Amino acid sequence: MMDVRIFKSAQEAAQAGANLIEEVVLGKDQPILGLATGSTPIPMYQALIQKYEAGTLSFKNVRTFNLDEYIGLDGAHDQSYRYFMNTQLFDHLDIDHANTHVPSGIGADHAADAKAYDEAIEAAGGTDIQVLGIGNNGHIGFNEPAEVFIKGTHIVDLTDSTIDANTRFFASRDEVPRQAITMGMGAIMSARKVLLLAFGPAKAQAIRDTLCGDIDPRVPASILQLHPNVVVLLDEDAASLL
Ligand code: GLP
Repeated sequence: MMDVRIFKSAQEAAQAGANLIEEVVLGKDQPILGLATGSTPIPMYQALIQKYEAGTLSFKNVRTFNLDEYIGLDGAHDQSYRYFMNTQLFDHLDIDHANTHVPSGIGADHAADAKAYDEAIEAAGGTDIQVLGIGNNGHIGFNEPAEVFIKGTHIVDLTDSTIDANTRFFASRDEVPRQAITMGMGAIMSARKVLLLAFGPAKAQAIRDTLCGDIDPRVPASILQLHPNVVVLLDEDAASLL
């Protein structure tokens, strides 16, 4: 079921998202969070940091699995997703960094890394809540529009539209990595709850296609229509075509 909630501002939506994550963290001895990067979840991560600083929420027993990473960037690179997670969230919490997992984009054997990543998620019992942003083309993690949905963690060639969208974070388009390693649809769909966030007018079409269109691997997020427990948090701009 898709529980779609529309807010006046991204800030209010982010607060609602943080409250849902708080519920999960408080509700389990060893909560497993699936986390995402991108600009969209930043205000929600800030709201979580505030809860930690207020002393109402601890991440001591939390384990995390991130969706994706660029191929070729190590964790010290300021555009790597490992760096993003450390600086935007983990460094500000009482989480044990050893319990935070981001796929490696620099291993010698990407296929082996991908397999090990899925095994680690499975061994943890899957995620209790998976946070997702969405690409302008409907991608989730780095599951780009394709002819089929891919189940496992895998290496993907980024589309021109994604490279264009992410150029803003790099010195030039040439510096944007061409490949990524991403969790596949299997791990995303086995999350016990999915939290999809989208803000701003650039996401309106992707949100419409995701929620109201056919389930089609050319709109990767549309697979979420088959998930039993999805909460979609939107601002009015992202919801404007619904
Ligand atoms: C990237 C990430 C996605 C993210 C998307 C949207 O390509 N791999 O996980 O959802 O961009 O990013 P933003 O939230 O900055 O719009």
